[in-house]
Amino acid sequence: MTTRPHARSGQTTAPEAQPNLQQRSYEIQRYGQQHFVPLGLSEEAVRQNVSLLNQLLADSITIYNLYKKHHWQVTGPTFYQLHLLLDKHAEEILKTVDLIAERVQTLGGVTTGMPFDVAEMTRIERPPKGEEDIPAMLSRTANAHTSIIKTLRDAIETTSQNKDYGTNDLLVSDVLRVHELQLWFISQHLVDTPLLYSDDNKSR
Ligand SMILES: [Fe+2]
Repeated sequence: MTTRPHARSGQTTAPEAQPNLQQRSYEIQRYGQQHFVPLGLSEEAVRQNVSLLNQLLADSITIYNLYKKHHWQVTGPTFYQLHLLLDKHAEEILKTVDLIAERVQTLGGVTTGMPFDVAEMTRIERPPKGEEDIPAMLSRTANAHTSIIKTLRDAIETTSQNKDYGTNDLLVSDVLRVHELQLWFISQHLVDTPLLYSDDNKSR
């Protein structure tokens, strides 16, 4: 067996076995730039759609975090039901986050990835750090859905006009329907219905 120089000098490992953890790189593609992917789309269409998708991505990451905040902070007699529902919605949103992000990369763009950048971009209103009551939490969540749905409708219109049918289909089938359904589920909790006696029975 050959004795390597480091073993003879008393070192425990060869230098090449040591992970180099201090590396940095220049940006090989800057945010806002796009590389060419032969998808048959114009450069302008890709630029427009990447920008719309990144806005949706920032808002989707934000509503995901809003759901998790509420999942953790919800209180009261309906705690268990809401705790589970809010987490289910968060998981469904998280799937859309990945789909949107991977579509940005598929088009040749650069995704908005980090919370620092998301916080700068999102159009969703910042909630307080502390706990709100359930009606406030739920109406805040419903408003966040409505904001995203408006952005989605614009993006769906634009991607149809510039013939990016892949993005268009993703936004309609995989994202819009999730938000519409979740908005329904959340908003139904904000209807003031009697729990034990109907109003008719009370008046008798
Ligand atoms: Fe949890």
